[in-house]
Amino acid sequence: MINVAIIIGSTRPGRKGEAVAGWVHDRAVKRGDARFEVVDLAEFALPPLDEPMPAITGRYTRPHTRTWAAKIASFDAFVFVTPEYNHSAPGPLKNAIDFLYAEWTNKAVGFVGYGSAGGSRAIEHLRLVVSCLQVAHVSAQVELSLFTDFEDFTAFRPAERHENTLTTLLDQVIAWSSALKVLRTGEHHAA
Ligand SMILES: Cc1cc2nc3c(=O)[nH]c(=O)nc-3n(C[C@H](O)[C@H](O)[C@H](O)COP(=O)(O)O)c2cc1C
Repeated sequence: MINVAIIIGSTRPGRKGEAVAGWVHDRAVKRGDARFEVVDLAEFALPPLDEPMPAITGRYTRPHTRTWAAKIASFDAFVFVTPEYNHSAPGPLKNAIDFLYAEWTNKAVGFVGYGSAGGSRAIEHLRLVVSCLQVAHVSAQVELSLFTDFEDFTAFRPAERHENTLTTLLDQVIAWSSALKVLRTGEHHAA
């Protein structure tokens, strides 16, 4: 079965990201066709990238890198839950992506964004970033508005229509991650 990480992309105290990731997880676990786990970036406490060698070399030296790498390696696919900070993704999320390479590659990702414009600009930037890592990013994306999906800009009350988009996103992520399995296992070399 495909293992999917729902990654909380914000780390600040009082973040909305936890509620959004919880909503994704609650809906996702009802499917039964994949396993889902919330991965909280804040728990990994990654410093600004401090590895001497680029991640593509796989030569990790720091214990926090190895812990993060083992976690991400255990998944086949990802849902990035991202706010928009200054028209882009939060620095800690970009940093956490930069720490690794092979652990992301040949997997699938979908994006759930939130912000005044649904987090769409953060998502567009993340699409460029994950392209560099050979991650297959699906087209369906959930865009949650601070104006209409958060009561008084605070309590998360997503409009019903987002559930359909989330279902499509998860369908696509699971399908692409399953299709890419031959690359992750190296079976295509034998064919
Ligand atoms: C540093 C910073 C920059 C922000 N810039 C934007 C922005 O460019 N566009 C936007 O829609 N919202 C922006 N916001 C608002 C965030 O989308 C909103 O505060 C959201 O709740 C942040 O996610 P979080 O609560 O999970 O940290 C910004 C917030 C912060 C903290």
